[in-house]
Amino acid sequence: MKTAVVASQKGGVGKTTLALNLAFSLARASFRVVLIDADPQGAVGHSLQGVRQSAGLYGLLRETTTIDEALLRTRVNELGIVPVGNVPPERAHEFANQLADGAALGDLCRRLESAYDLVLIDTPSGFGGATLGALRAAKYVLSPLQAEPVALKTLPQLLALLGALRAEGVDIELAAIVLCMLQQRNAESLAVAEEVWTRMPRELVVETTIPRDTTVLAASAAGVPLGLLSRLRPPPLALVFDQLALELAPRLGLTSEGDDGPVGLFA
Ligand SMILES: Nc1ncnc2c1ncn2[C@@H]1O[C@H](COP(=O)(O)OP(=O)(O)OP(=O)(O)O)[C@@H](O)[C@H]1O
Ligand SMILES: [Mg+2]
Repeated sequence: MKTAVVASQKGGVGKTTLALNLAFSLARASFRVVLIDADPQGAVGHSLQGVRQSAGLYGLLRETTTIDEALLRTRVNELGIVPVGNVPPERAHEFANQLADGAALGDLCRRLESAYDLVLIDTPSGFGGATLGALRAAKYVLSPLQAEPVALKTLPQLLALLGALRAEGVDIELAAIVLCMLQQRNAESLAVAEEVWTRMPRELVVETTIPRDTTVLAASAAGVPLGLLSRLRPPPLALVFDQLALELAPRLGLTSEGDDGPVGLFA
């Protein structure tokens, strides 16, 4: 089983949108994925209709919930969700401190190992305890980079943190930077993309970019992943996440069974 964290220092850059829709697309591509929300704001649960926030990671930490109660099964057999649970605001700091050494999340990942191919952890912005714990427990990091000028300035901080964790002996690797909220018709947004493509090592930046698109808001208002926004006609952005999932799978060490190669049209 593989473990990955979606993290960024800057807030509101598209972490939760990436984590949820990537988890959905990977599951649709037959990888067994569990998405864990480690953000006390509970953004994963808030983005989905019908999530019982009462169970979840917080209950597991306090040992008031069993893993069977905390892990929600979904319409897609391959996708499970562990919401964060109801973290009282005055306990958010304590919650983050409890996660910081990575032991609790590492233990949870091990308990999910036999049933899942990937554990994907969504984290709050910044490098507080929950994010540090997720980075200590996981092997790979995915970082969304909002295609806006200030976003680029925060990337060195993430790279410095990963360097510091590795110096501590943590086995963590930046698997990919994903350009999010790209505005194809906006010169500043395109200039940021250009800078990322030219200045960052090629192997770090994935080809698939996530455009700024109002269907994200529609999916969030409906409380569904983009791929379930319409039964008959999923929005083009859902297909972008499918494409991203295929591009990221090998970077996360996920491999599909069987031969990959051309298939003749005539049997
Ligand atoms: N590609 C997109 N196009 C348009 N809006 C988007 C896109 N991605 C995310 N959004 C919107 O931007 C806002 C922030 O997105 P999201 O919650 O995914 O970011 P985040 O990095 O998880 O935020 P936080 O740091 O608070 O956890 C949300 O309102 C979301 O609906
Ligand atoms: Mg979020």
